[in-house]
Amino acid sequence: MIFSGEFHPFRLPVPDLWLDVFQKIKSMGFNGVSFYVDWGLVEGNPGHVSTDGIWSLEEFFDAATQAGIYLIARPGPYINAETSAGGIPGWVLRKNATIRSDDPEYLNATVNYLSTVGRIIEKAQITHGGPVILVQPENEFSTWPGVTDFPSSMNRRYMDFVEQQLLDAGITVPLIVNDNEAMGYWAPGSGLGAVDIYGIDSYPLRYDCAHPTVWPTYRFPFDWQVVHERESPETPFAIAEFQGGSGEGWGGVAEEMCADLVNAEAARVVYKNNYSFGVKLFNIYMTYGGTNWGNLGYQAGYTSYDYGAAITEERGLWREKYSEQKLEANFLKVSPAYLTATSKLGVNGSYGAPASIAVTPLLGNGTQTNFYVVRHADFSSLANAQYNLIVSTSVGNVSIPQLGGSLSLNGRDSKIHVTDYDLGGINLIYSTAEIFTWARGSGSTRVLVLYGGVGETHEFAVARHLGNPTIIEGEDISFHEKGSTWVIRWQVGRNRCVIHVSNLEIYLVWRNEAYNYWVLELPSSHPIGNFSSPSKELVVVKGGYLIRSAKLVDKHLWLSGDVNSTTEIEVISTPVGQLDGLIFNGQQMKTSPTKTGKVSAVVEYHPPTLDIPALNDLQWKYIDSLPELKSSYNDSAWQSCDKLVSHNPRKLDTPTNLYAMDYGFHTGSLLYRGHFSANGLESYIWLNISGGTGFGHSVWLDDTFLGSWPGTGSDATITQNLTIPTTLSSGTQHVISILIDNMGQDEEAPGTDAIKFPHGILGYQLSNHVQSDVAWKLTGNLGGEQYRDLARGPLNEGAMYAERQGYHYPNPPNSHWEVSSPFKTGLSKAGVGFYTTTFRLDFPDGWDVPLSVVLNNSTAGDSTQKNSGINYRCQLYINGYQYGKYINNLGPQKSYPIPEGILNHNGLNYIALTLWAQDPLGARLGGLDLAPSMLIRSDYAKPRPAPQPTWEPRLGAY
Ligand code: GAL
Repeated sequence: MIFSGEFHPFRLPVPDLWLDVFQKIKSMGFNGVSFYVDWGLVEGNPGHVSTDGIWSLEEFFDAATQAGIYLIARPGPYINAETSAGGIPGWVLRKNATIRSDDPEYLNATVNYLSTVGRIIEKAQITHGGPVILVQPENEFSTWPGVTDFPSSMNRRYMDFVEQQLLDAGITVPLIVNDNEAMGYWAPGSGLGAVDIYGIDSYPLRYDCAHPTVWPTYRFPFDWQVVHERESPETPFAIAEFQGGSGEGWGGVAEEMCADLVNAEAARVVYKNNYSFGVKLFNIYMTYGGTNWGNLGYQAGYTSYDYGAAITEERGLWREKYSEQKLEANFLKVSPAYLTATSKLGVNGSYGAPASIAVTPLLGNGTQTNFYVVRHADFSSLANAQYNLIVSTSVGNVSIPQLGGSLSLNGRDSKIHVTDYDLGGINLIYSTAEIFTWARGSGSTRVLVLYGGVGETHEFAVARHLGNPTIIEGEDISFHEKGSTWVIRWQVGRNRCVIHVSNLEIYLVWRNEAYNYWVLELPSSHPIGNFSSPSKELVVVKGGYLIRSAKLVDKHLWLSGDVNSTTEIEVISTPVGQLDGLIFNGQQMKTSPTKTGKVSAVVEYHPPTLDIPALNDLQWKYIDSLPELKSSYNDSAWQSCDKLVSHNPRKLDTPTNLYAMDYGFHTGSLLYRGHFSANGLESYIWLNISGGTGFGHSVWLDDTFLGSWPGTGSDATITQNLTIPTTLSSGTQHVISILIDNMGQDEEAPGTDAIKFPHGILGYQLSNHVQSDVAWKLTGNLGGEQYRDLARGPLNEGAMYAERQGYHYPNPPNSHWEVSSPFKTGLSKAGVGFYTTTFRLDFPDGWDVPLSVVLNNSTAGDSTQKNSGINYRCQLYINGYQYGKYINNLGPQKSYPIPEGILNHNGLNYIALTLWAQDPLGARLGGLDLAPSMLIRSDYAKPRPAPQPTWEPRLGAY
């Protein structure tokens, strides 16, 4: 089984941290990761594909190999993924060709990218000893406007073209598809464009994070066995994407509520439902979400792409879902009988259970083992339900529990009960308690870890001829002879029970105790190395926060892991039995014997006192970042908006083309300057502005502020009439300045070209003028598609003066800038201020301390005060990386996790802010804190900083 988690390297732009995330995924019991490549980030400049620095796939592949993680590569060209234009570069959007069609102009645009990235992926295939086992061409290519009998021959030609390029690059591993329609599209044998493995894509819990306890029912899958049999019976049942979290947009709720929507209970109920269908390739999107830093996100997402995933944006493991998934993935890893069992359509009320219970069996097919997946028939039910189950075992049909009482589902829950389950030669006749793992100890010793919810009663049975059960630890346990079996009954409490039946050692733990157990695969020789394989020897330890890996050298167990409190490490099982030593993170531990005959040791946790500066108290330097409002400003270097045509599907409403994308500006803010000669009759200007959901804009006539649009969580365009307050003298020259926050392009449904919807000025009218009286100029990021920052990529910076000059870089030329604080002083009128300061950090080695920049006490709009506007926007730059976009009037994000490596934990840091006050009252920030989420004593590899080029004069900057 491939059990994988989605993780996008581009959302964690510190290559040295990729290993940390891979290890955390691997320690959850997963054996794979699926990832996208974002074409728009690596080929922002047509013809120049970046494959080094933070874009290095090779480093990603090396880290996966080191952690032992198989990879599913998904290079698009279209990826969706809540990225700007779903990964299609801006320069492709302005072509006269439908995106994802077989128009040669579009196809040709993909060639350079696909062949370059294809060749890099090719080298990393498992056939060359690398981690890549599957490649997915395109993404969710399952509809096309007007095509009812999808796919049409056009769709087929395009899909085939993408696949052919990957094959030409040498890809030989199977191709997989991600079909969001679950209609069998592109399944093997379905004609031109068919792939090797068919996969479903599904998000049943949807996206309403504001109501996290409401589980939508309209997309819940009940019959995927049937779908699989109908659409692709010959391939392993694959779910290429399944909902692992959820997302939110501007003005929405915080990501933590998305974690609540798709919580541990959802993972228990909804994922187990998938296992009941016999899924063989299961990929959870997202497993680590990361960050939409540097404008890489689409219009409707904010900076955090935490996604409420199992691993938090800070790389933290404090969500229960992580632990729940660990229980599930480890169980499947040690249950090979699951791979061949036949899944039967679930019937409510069958197998002796009441009608309120759904039972889906996976029946042995070549093995004796059966799996019975049980949940509420109404899967979202919060009821406490009791049931008995008639299961088929080698000792006949048995109604369980046999010793009285009943089994229970308390609230949102689902269970997998097994019969005739092979523990490496010892038969577990049945168990109502769930299996976390089992492992081979030395000789014929087997260790089994069972778990249940506190208060539940469980039962399991083994053959009597094995020997008599002995209780080693705990009390809530009794056993009875039944025919040829021992039936062992366990009342689940918080205390562990351990019982031995001959050489079978059974650990009975309540679920939250099981969360502290870790199963590690021992490394093997080349070519398996650290990759998962059924032949792997396992080590089971009770630890705490995280155990990353284990190795055995001369009966010494070496563990690598992290603790967040003083933690007892107990070795539950190793293939050598008795150990001669235990080494944790390179340190020899003082061990003591446990009651159960194992060893344990205590890892001390003494967190250091960290010197973290109070950002509010630092000296901040300031410059005006809107010098364009001054009459002396010279815009002769600016791009004139002189194009008369556009290939955009939206027809022009203006005499010349004002779509920013058609001038190569695809990211960050946009700044327009409209020159006109007054006739004295001007009374208003009407504007139709587009910037994507959550966008805002501000308008000035010369240096007079006319007004702003502060944005909403739903408007992507807005029309506005702004009054010109004074009469202009006829014949005088004037400039209208419009600053637009450009939120990233939308995603699309195939063939609609919705992602091309232009941003910028869509329409305008200056009263008592013809449109052509206004001559527009435009700037976005300096250089547009020929962007300057090759290290941080094409989307990181926008049109603001300070950005064009590169002042957001470390070491800007600020010695003569004014000293002014964004908190104490701020801006007293509408405009844009740029602030920068520096500070040092010097954290001790061996401590992983995720830090966030947190905005606090934002000004609440006291209109009697200056600097107290409500509507303002900030961009946060850390060592040149835009790592936060804050919109005071929309929110919801206030806390911005900054990974180590973007922030230097041992060295100097440059932090910069653009503060854009949209109200006449100006704006002031309440304060900024640098806040650690946890101090983790960690065996992570300390990352080298991501490339942080410092400021140099930018040639041609205006
Ligand atoms: C899927 C898509 C992903 C992502 C997800 C929602 O349908 O394939 O790329 O956009 O939806 O988070």
